Amino acid sequence: MIYDNLKVGDNGHLYFAGRDTVRLAETYKTPLYLLDEEKILNRCRLYRSAMKAAFGGDALPLYAGKALCIGALYRVMKEENMGIDVVSAGEIHTAAKAGFPMERAYFHGNNKTDADIAFAMEKEVGHFVCDNEDELLAIDAEAKKRGIRQKVLLRLTPGIDPHTHAKIATGKVDSKFGAAIETGQARALTALALSQKNVELEGFHCHIGSQIFDCQPYLDAADIMLRFIAEVKADFGFSASVLNLGGGMGVPYTDVDSPVDYAANIREIGRHLSATCQALGMEKPTVLMEPGRSIVADAGMTLYTVGGKKEIQGYKNYVSVDGGMADNPRFALYEAKYTVLLANKAAAPAIYRCTVAGRCCESGDLIGEDFLIPEPKRGDLLAVLTTGAYNYSMASNYNALCKPSVVILGEKQEYIAVERESLDDLTRNQVF
Ligand code: LLP
Repeated sequence: MIYDNLKVGDNGHLYFAGRDTVRLAETYKTPLYLLDEEKILNRCRLYRSAMKAAFGGDALPLYAGKALCIGALYRVMKEENMGIDVVSAGEIHTAAKAGFPMERAYFHGNNKTDADIAFAMEKEVGHFVCDNEDELLAIDAEAKKRGIRQKVLLRLTPGIDPHTHAKIATGKVDSKFGAAIETGQARALTALALSQKNVELEGFHCHIGSQIFDCQPYLDAADIMLRFIAEVKADFGFSASVLNLGGGMGVPYTDVDSPVDYAANIREIGRHLSATCQALGMEKPTVLMEPGRSIVADAGMTLYTVGGKKEIQGYKNYVSVDGGMADNPRFALYEAKYTVLLANKAAAPAIYRCTVAGRCCESGDLIGEDFLIPEPKRGDLLAVLTTGAYNYSMASNYNALCKPSVVILGEKQEYIAVERESLDDLTRNQVF
């Protein structure tokens, strides 16, 4: 099995996080998102301890809530002493409602509205990661109104191609995010930040992309950022105390991907950072990272009930499930690859080649193509692995489908973290 939290029981059922998935589907109905809490806790602890060892005691991983933004997770992040990356009033609201200490929140986004900025300050979000000059002036103005100095990092684009899917690469010079170092915009943004009375510049941020399997792009990004820090020290006398290297470490979705050794990568980045700081004659900044996918992706699974089967002779076989692009748009958007298993027949030989289709009214609504599973029939249970990140958080109500519930499987107890939407939830904001 691709992950250590999966096994096949004596009854031939797939077990996930120690639970029989057939029992879970009967109890909570399908489609159903499941989360293995132990896996999430272990990843938080791994990031925290590896970063502390590699970068020093003040290093902090910030969980990127865009991967999965639910109150129950923010409670976990609080208990695990993580920081968080938030990108909207909605994420701030969710985290604050869960009691997350907002001093440890970093507010991202390439277009924070005036209302967002005011809301974030109202909620006492500790740090803003500022994207551009207009936004910097708006942050300064709101902070002035409130009589505060808002701590900020500046988001820079180091000009790195991390070799991932184009839609999730963000560190290139022509990115919509941040200020490019290469074009001089980063330097100009820094000068502006230093000249504003109500912002307190702490340092710099970069995020080069998502689903990155190599360590090298991080080393390159760290080099470029540290050289920039040295340059602004020389030019403006400003010593950046914080360097945020963003998120993006990859997660295997199929056995074609190799697992990433997060701790080894962090060690490597730490060694590199120390050496570069020494060579540049500078103090090591406090290092932050922003893992999202690598905290929750492989802690997640979606269960579907199989519906119709369609065998188009000489072409392909379709197996349809009771969910699809509304709860998982990642195939439609990125042609993302997944591993699927027939959960109620997990020990049977996988001999049936098929495309798994969703129930939405679009041909592109697929979970994926070319899967091999045991011969399926209506009523079987299909498990899609690795759906913890960017599934629930990207889910929609397309075709007026209700979003599934999210059930967290803890070591001792299991609980519903998000209730399944009802038909009335769908029409709640409509005026009849
Ligand atoms: N920090 C920043 C500023 C980000 O923009 C992101 C992700 C992260 C951290 C977390 O990256 P992660 O560790 O999760 O790779 N919807 C796409 C992924 C979009 C990623 C957006 N930014 C997907 O489903 O693959």
